[in-house]
Amino acid sequence: MLIALTGTPGTGKSTVASELQAKGWKALEVNDLAKRHGLLRSKDPARDSYDLDLDELQEALDKEKFNDGVLVGHLAHLLDVDMVIVLRCHPDVLAKRLEERKWPLAKIRENALAEALDIILAEAVDSEVPVFEVNTTEMSPPETEGAVLAILAGEKEKYAVGNIDWSEEALRWS
Ligand SMILES: Nc1ncnc2c1ncn2[C@@H]1O[C@H](COP(=O)(O)OP(=O)(O)O)[C@@H](O)[C@H]1O
Ligand SMILES: [Mg+2]
Repeated sequence: MLIALTGTPGTGKSTVASELQAKGWKALEVNDLAKRHGLLRSKDPARDSYDLDLDELQEALDKEKFNDGVLVGHLAHLLDVDMVIVLRCHPDVLAKRLEERKWPLAKIRENALAEALDIILAEAVDSEVPVFEVNTTEMSPPETEGAVLAILAGEKEKYAVGNIDWSEEALRWS
């Protein structure tokens, strides 16, 4: 079973994934996969991020036969997975987390707006597989990890999609 751990940058994917890994789960960062297969070629100068080709990423994933574990990254839900967990974070708190990472304001705004507009969640529910969302805003990293572990253990109600609505924040970040 391949699980996508996705979410807007800063929602805590990598933090949680490394904890899961320490507990014996197999985890693969989409970025590391891309690097290993030479897919980080074209950098989009306007956004200071890499333009990744989904078909190439899927091919790389197939080549590595990584089909059991957690696939981590904000594109993970766009690959061929069996379940999607979307980490969410209130846009204001997300902005603070990204500020701590010294991200430029334009990128912070772009991501806070994307979070307010549910962009990744909307992409995720577009697929046929089960999707869950975890509101990390008031959680500590271990609590987020606990929520992810609960979903992996079969919890379905508590993290069902549809309980998070930050649409009213969108105006302020656009
Ligand atoms: N509840 C939480 N869950 C995960 N990370 C959190 C949480 N609260 C604060 N953080 C912090 O937010 C940042 C998230 O960064 P990271 O895990 O790299 O996110 P991502 O991989 O989604 O971009 C880290 O500095 C982490 O310590
Ligand atoms: Mg990360």
